[in-house]
Amino acid sequence: MGKRKRDISRRQFLEGSGAVLVAATAAPKLRAQLSTQPETGGAAAGVPSTAIRIVVNGAEHRLEVEDRWTLAELLRDHLGLTGTKIGCDRGECGACTVLLDGKPIYSCSNLAVWADGREIRTVEGLAHGDQLDPLQRAFVAHDGPQCGFCTSGQLMSAKGLLARNPHPTAQEVRAAMTGNICRCSNYNRYVEAVMAAAATGDAKTSDRGAGRSTPAKRGAKASASAGGA
Ligand code: FES
Ligand code: FES
Repeated sequence: MGKRKRDISRRQFLEGSGAVLVAATAAPKLRAQLSTQPETGGAAAGVPSTAIRIVVNGAEHRLEVEDRWTLAELLRDHLGLTGTKIGCDRGECGACTVLLDGKPIYSCSNLAVWADGREIRTVEGLAHGDQLDPLQRAFVAHDGPQCGFCTSGQLMSAKGLLARNPHPTAQEVRAAMTGNICRCSNYNRYVEAVMAAAATGDAKTSDRGAGRSTPAKRGAKASASAGGA
């Protein structure tokens, strides 16, 4: 042991110390990368919370969510997806509509914990990069959005309809969007837009791959470009 100590040169000692320092500096980062712990999601200490796994617009999230959070709160306040709007916050206006496993729901009236293991699609998940979804293009072409506050909810209700019924009648469109109130009363334009999108057939095909959790998607950060605060 003593002989070995004497055999270590000053240079070897410094090289060894440097390696330890590099390792010590890198360790927290490495630990963070290897951690399997869920994101805190902003849950407050001492408040009942639950670890959930959700896929939002194709990106997987493992989060610790407070049991009292609504899905709208989780999306807007903790995932930064502010395209989903909160109007009434009590299940009356439809501004907060998102797709849960492809079905339109009011995110203000569903708890975030109920979404565990499920796929959510928000208005931010409609466009592909700079390419608006055909339904969004139809909304613009037909002057659907006026103040725009209800628009993301209208889009998601229409998207849910076209996924299950690619060629609806005008009456079916009205029925599907009856839960989405528009204070600007632009209902006829919204119905026209959905009918136009359905007529092209693109609104349905643009869904290919949406909501599927691929490795590439899991690494991607959900874009909030489609919605303001
Ligand atoms: S904000 Fe959810 S229904 Fe009005
Ligand atoms: S466009 Fe203004 S509330 Fe619908």
